[in-house]
Amino acid sequence: MSANLSDTSLRKRNQNESNPRESDSVSKIHNIMQLTDPCHEIKESLLSKSNNEINSRGFLNLALVLLVLSNLRVALNNVITFGILIDPGKWTAILMQNPLYRPTFLLLIALNIFITIALYIEKIVAKKRISEKRANHLIVANIGVILISPIIVNILFECNLLLSSFVCGIYSVVILKLISYHSVNGWCRTAIRYGKPIATFREVKQEYLKIIDTKNLVHYPNNLSVCDIYYFLYAPTLCYQINFPQTPRIRIRFVLTRLIESAVLLQIIVGLIQQWIIPGVMNSLEPFQDMEYSKIISRLLLLAVPNHIIWLIFFYTFFHSFMNLMAEILRFGDRDFYHDWWNSESVDQFWQKWNIPVHKWCVRHVYKPLVYRGYSRFHASCAVFIISAFFHEYIVSIPLKMLEIWSFAGMLGQIPFAIFVSTCLRSNAANVAIWLHLIIGQPLAILMYYHDYYVMHFAK
Ligand SMILES: CC(C)(COP(=O)(O)OP(=O)(O)OC[C@H]1O[C@@H](n2cnc3c(N)ncnc32)[C@H](O)[C@@H]1OP(=O)(O)O)[C@@H](O)C(=O)NCCC(=O)NCCS
Repeated sequence: MSANLSDTSLRKRNQNESNPRESDSVSKIHNIMQLTDPCHEIKESLLSKSNNEINSRGFLNLALVLLVLSNLRVALNNVITFGILIDPGKWTAILMQNPLYRPTFLLLIALNIFITIALYIEKIVAKKRISEKRANHLIVANIGVILISPIIVNILFECNLLLSSFVCGIYSVVILKLISYHSVNGWCRTAIRYGKPIATFREVKQEYLKIIDTKNLVHYPNNLSVCDIYYFLYAPTLCYQINFPQTPRIRIRFVLTRLIESAVLLQIIVGLIQQWIIPGVMNSLEPFQDMEYSKIISRLLLLAVPNHIIWLIFFYTFFHSFMNLMAEILRFGDRDFYHDWWNSESVDQFWQKWNIPVHKWCVRHVYKPLVYRGYSRFHASCAVFIISAFFHEYIVSIPLKMLEIWSFAGMLGQIPFAIFVSTCLRSNAANVAIWLHLIIGQPLAILMYYHDYYVMHFAK
C-alpha cells in the first residue's frame, strides 16, 4: 500500500516537472471532485442528543467566570460604598470588652464542675452505692443545671454577645456528649446485669484491632476516669465509646497544615463578615420596617451570596481543618466528619451527610431508641428535628436575650420541606432545591433576628 502511494507521488512529481500547466489543472479537478462529496447525512442536533453525549465543561467554566465577575462587581460596589471595613483589632477589642467577657469565662470554668459531677455519679453507681433510678435522677438534674446555667447568667449579667453565643455552643456540645457518656455507661451496666458481653470489643471495628494492642483495651468500669472523660470531651465526636480507635502517631506536618488553614480561614471569615455581612444587614433594616417587598428581596439576595460563601468557608474550616486538627492531636482515628452533602438529592440525604457527628448522635441516642420502642420512623425523625431545633434556638436566642422562633422554625420546617422535595422533585431539581434552601434560608433568618433585635433595643 505504502509502495503504491510513493509510486503515485513519484509519478505526479515527474509529471509536474515535465508539464506544470497540466498538473495545475489536474489538482484543480481533484479538489473540485472532493468538494462535490455529499456533505449531508441523517444527524441529530447536538442539543437534541442525550445528556451523556454532550460535553458541557465549557458551560461550567462560563458559569464560574460569570459567577466571579458578578460577585467581583458586587464586592467592588461594596468597597466603593463603605470603604475598607476589615479590621482584626476591632474583633479582639469587642471580645475583650471589660467586664462583659467575665460571666462567659466563669461559665466555661463552671462547666468543669458539672463534668466532675457527671463522672462522680457514674463512679458511685458503678460501685452500687446508689441505685440505677437514683443515678438517673441525678444525671437529669445535672444536665438540667448545665442547660439552664447560660440562661440564668445571660439574664442576670450583661454578656458579650459573641462569647455568649460561643459558650452556649460549647454547653450544647457538652450536654450532648454527657448524654452519650451516661447512656453508654448505662448500657454497659445493663449488659453486665444480664451477663452479656460488654460492647468494648464489639464497638472497636475489626480493622482497628490490628493497630490497637488488645491487651490494653479498657473494660467497664475502668473507663470511669478523669483522663477518659476529658479525652472524650475534647475528641471531635459526640458519641462516647469505651476504647476509641486511635492512630499510631501524631503527624506534625498534618497538624501544622490544619492549624495554619484554620487560623487563615478564620481571619477570612471574620474579614468577610466585617466587610460584607454587617453593612448588608444594617442596610436592609429600612425596607424591612417599611415592608417594601421588592427591596427586601433585593437586600436578601445581596446578602445571600456573601453569607453562602462564608458558610462554605466555615464548613471547610470547621469540619475539615479544625476537626482533623483536634483528631490528629488526640490521635483520634475516626475522621468521618462529613460526606458529600453537596450532591444530596433529598433532604434526608443532606442531613445524613452534612454533619456526621450530630447525625450519629441523633441516630444512636434518639432515633434508634425511639424506633426500638415501637415509634414510627417519621415520629422518631420529628423528635430528632425538635431536639435539633431546640439547640439551634438555644445557641441564638440566649445570647440575644430574646425568645424568637426563626431558628427553631427553620429546623422544624425541614420536615415539610423534606416531604415536598421527596414527593415533587427528582435528582437535579431536588439538588437545586436543597442548594436554594441553604442559600436563601440562612440570610433570611439572619435578617429576621437582626430586625427583631433592632426593634427590641433601638426602635425608640
Ligand atoms: C432524623 C435522622 C436521624 C434520620 O436519619 P436517616 O439516616 O435518614 O434515618 P434512616 O431511617 O435511614 O436510618 C437511620 C438508622 O436507623 C436504622 N433503622 C431505621 N429503621 C430501623 C428499624 N426499624 N429498626 C432498627 N434500625 C432501624 C437504620 O438502619 C440506620 O442505621 P445506621 O445509621 O446504623 O445505618 C436524620 O435526618 C438526622 O440526623 N436529622 C437531624 C440532623 C441535624 O439536626 N443536624 C444538625 C446539624 S447542624
